[in-house]
Amino acid sequence: MPVITTIEDLRRLAERRVPRMFYDYADSGSWTEQTYRENSSDFAKIRLRQRVAVNMDGRSLKSQMIGQDVSMPVAIAPTGLTGMQHADGEILAARAAAKFGVPFTLSTMSICSIEDIAQNTDRPFWFQLYMLRDRKFMERLIDRAKAAKCSALVLTLDLQILGQRHKDLKNGLSAPPKPTLANMINLAFKPRWCLGMLGTKRRFFGNIVGHVTGVEDVSSLSSWTAGQFDPTLSWADVAWVKERWGGKLILKGIQDIEDAKLAVASGADALIVSNHGGRQLDGAISSIAALAPIVDAVGDKIEVHMDGGIRTGQDVLKAIAIGAKGTYIGRAFLYGLGAMGEAGVTKALEIIRKELDITMAFCGKTDVRTLDRNDLIVRKDAQRELGLRH
Ligand code: GLV
Repeated sequence: MPVITTIEDLRRLAERRVPRMFYDYADSGSWTEQTYRENSSDFAKIRLRQRVAVNMDGRSLKSQMIGQDVSMPVAIAPTGLTGMQHADGEILAARAAAKFGVPFTLSTMSICSIEDIAQNTDRPFWFQLYMLRDRKFMERLIDRAKAAKCSALVLTLDLQILGQRHKDLKNGLSAPPKPTLANMINLAFKPRWCLGMLGTKRRFFGNIVGHVTGVEDVSSLSSWTAGQFDPTLSWADVAWVKERWGGKLILKGIQDIEDAKLAVASGADALIVSNHGGRQLDGAISSIAALAPIVDAVGDKIEVHMDGGIRTGQDVLKAIAIGAKGTYIGRAFLYGLGAMGEAGVTKALEIIRKELDITMAFCGKTDVRTLDRNDLIVRKDAQRELGLRH
């Protein structure tokens, strides 16, 4: 096995081990994938300010997200079908995150259920919720998250309808895969994955199957979203969720200053600058380009987090230096999971931590909480693109 030193190494291994439709589901964006690509490539427009002869001993990456201690300001993002990247994927990732001391966020569209995670980890996790047409089912989901002692609710605002993802349509994405000839041939080359799946009963959308009636095809993400997600979602619904939940609330999917101000007005504890990993509105600006204007507009009134495009600890450093209080990794941990299960998620976190730590030292800083825009060097034209005022 090759020595794994980067998230890209994990991605390559995951590509070999995970069935095509699930690998593609994770590693793609909507339409032309421009936003998906720019989420990562825009980070390269930000350079780092090297400092020397500064004592770099005793470094700390410890911080807080929504008042909770984190060993570094990096949470695991909610991702759908995680238990299809690897058997029991959500449980494994939640365990790795718990041991590492960073938050794990469970998606509504997970394979393992809220209860599965609660029973198999000993640290509170966060639960991500979509606004659904069936309010009774939502109430039950919120109550289940409360019963599982989830310590934050992440309400996603940017996926009431699904962005067009060509690969998923072409692959006939479903969980579990349908027994078509093409799928059978592909699975024949993924013995590790198949063995894992044979050893678990968690192969369906665990938060949904058995908890809701009247859904025609629960194996299909696209038919489930089309039928169940509420396209009328408004800020009044956000208030309803906040009231019903009563705990820490994080709003995910903010790209615009006006929406950021409305998020502040909603009384939420944090917002996540996000374009859903480039999976929804293709053509939207990258998350790192959306971050600075939002921090400048509302950063003193609400905690600003960001996700999208983070593949290295250097990316984390850049987002934190711009003003994010926390970041999230989605694909970076999914690649680890698909490659090597729990050990792969731990590996992904270790890679990010090491890169963040060493980079911080080279920038002459010893405490992640003291990073700021002075640690960055950005050319004038890129400053404009990234909305960066120094
Ligand atoms: C679900 O959140 C997805 O992006 O597929």
